Amino acid sequence: MDQSRAPILEALQEFRRRNDVVYGPPGHKQGRGADRRVADVVGIDVFRSDVLLLNGLDDRRQSHGLLEQAQELMADAVGAEHAFFSTCGSSLSVKTAMLAVAGPGEKLLVSRNSHKSVISAVVINGVEPVWVHPKFDAQRHLAHPPEPEDVRRRFKEHPDAKGMLLVTPTDWGTCADVQGVARTCHDFDVPLIVDEAWGAHLPFHPDLPPWGMYHEADLVVTSVHKMGGAIEQSSVFHLQYDRVSPEVLKQREDLLATTSASTLVYATLDGWRRQMAENGRELLDAALHRAQRIRAAAQGLPGLQVMDREVVRSGLAADIDPLKIVIDVRELGVSGMQAAEWLRTHRHVDVGGSDTCRISASITHADDAETEETLLAALRALVEAADDMEARPAVDLPDPSALELEQAMRPRDAFFAPAEHVPAERAAGRIAAELVSPYPPGVPAIAPGEVITKEVVDYLRSGAEHGVLIPDAADSSVRTLRVVARSGAAA
Ligand SMILES: Cc1ncc(COP(=O)(O)O)c(C=O)c1O
Repeated sequence: MDQSRAPILEALQEFRRRNDVVYGPPGHKQGRGADRRVADVVGIDVFRSDVLLLNGLDDRRQSHGLLEQAQELMADAVGAEHAFFSTCGSSLSVKTAMLAVAGPGEKLLVSRNSHKSVISAVVINGVEPVWVHPKFDAQRHLAHPPEPEDVRRRFKEHPDAKGMLLVTPTDWGTCADVQGVARTCHDFDVPLIVDEAWGAHLPFHPDLPPWGMYHEADLVVTSVHKMGGAIEQSSVFHLQYDRVSPEVLKQREDLLATTSASTLVYATLDGWRRQMAENGRELLDAALHRAQRIRAAAQGLPGLQVMDREVVRSGLAADIDPLKIVIDVRELGVSGMQAAEWLRTHRHVDVGGSDTCRISASITHADDAETEETLLAALRALVEAADDMEARPAVDLPDPSALELEQAMRPRDAFFAPAEHVPAERAAGRIAAELVSPYPPGVPAIAPGEVITKEVVDYLRSGAEHGVLIPDAADSSVRTLRVVARSGAAA
């Protein structure tokens, strides 16, 4: 296919050239009604390019098939049989992908270290999760994706499961053996869905970790806004083989999707695909070299430990994304959250992720010599300032096995059951009726239906005291927890 074309971008350019007047949404009419103070901040072009496909870029019958053309070009560029764009982020795409494989009441293997959007899908879709526990890395207090043997064991225990959802790379850049897991799924004649939200760049350079479509996954979801160059909420479904029908996927997506898809998202997806198809190898080559230099320089700073390929071994990770620079800061005597806050306040540097032990910075095709030096200068300053940072109450990190909670009820049943709030000290032994996800990375420490333990409460309480953000818990301080009511007073 002619990868130099970008049908949606070209149609947008043409729409703007024609100066069409639209008597339908959006009500700002391509910026005519935009408040100047808004336009001054976000730019008038944001409004000028905000136009619907239907009765806008394309006609009433969508006879130009712009979206289809752009999607076909994407599929062609990344080795998929089909690609579908979504403007609702991978948070919605993973829900759709799961719904396309397992309906209400059906079983699906799910990596327990999944992002909260996956665990929410379990609640909303009513699927029965068969959790596959990740590989817990006690030294780093980190969870890596499960291995093929873990998956095989769970399929043997649940031969009626309809498929599996695997997350790779994780937020911290560690990766699964996608092909091994895919083949295991196929041995049981069911599809593998890969939440590759962090992997939009993977198809475009051979030195990057496995890209699902090249490694036999059936359905892969990416967030192009994370490691790629499209704007926020840009997500793509990629499909191959015949275990998931494109028709079923489209119809289930239609149940959840917006009817007012953003052309800004479509156009930037279209442009990113063209950029990568034409120059991805070279751009990512430069990013890989840059990341390599940053890793070496950061590793040379006292008190910083950069995670590298030492985690790539049996029982831990199958690979790492070298563009995700994950730095353990514990030797500095501060937490990752403290380091991240200091970097933002004192150096105006926002690292993408932080938790108790570490910070992470994503390097993409967009970085240059200036951003490379900014990051390194900020890290050097952090190392110097660490001794003077105020000590904070320590986070009570549990033994990793303590994070494998027993599931006593289906997540959906527990979430919708009559519930009550109990003080944290009295929560152990009760069944959770909510998700409790330290953010980032947004992987629930407690999922609805799981039996709360003292260890997990101590971890969450001490985390909240330290400054961990827990946005989804009803009480984000975790002084109380929402649990399934035993009887009487339910809320
Ligand atoms: C592994 C994973 N899956 C899915 C999502 C949701 O993606 P989005 O932000 O595009 O909705 C995230 C977001 O951080 C994620 O880390």
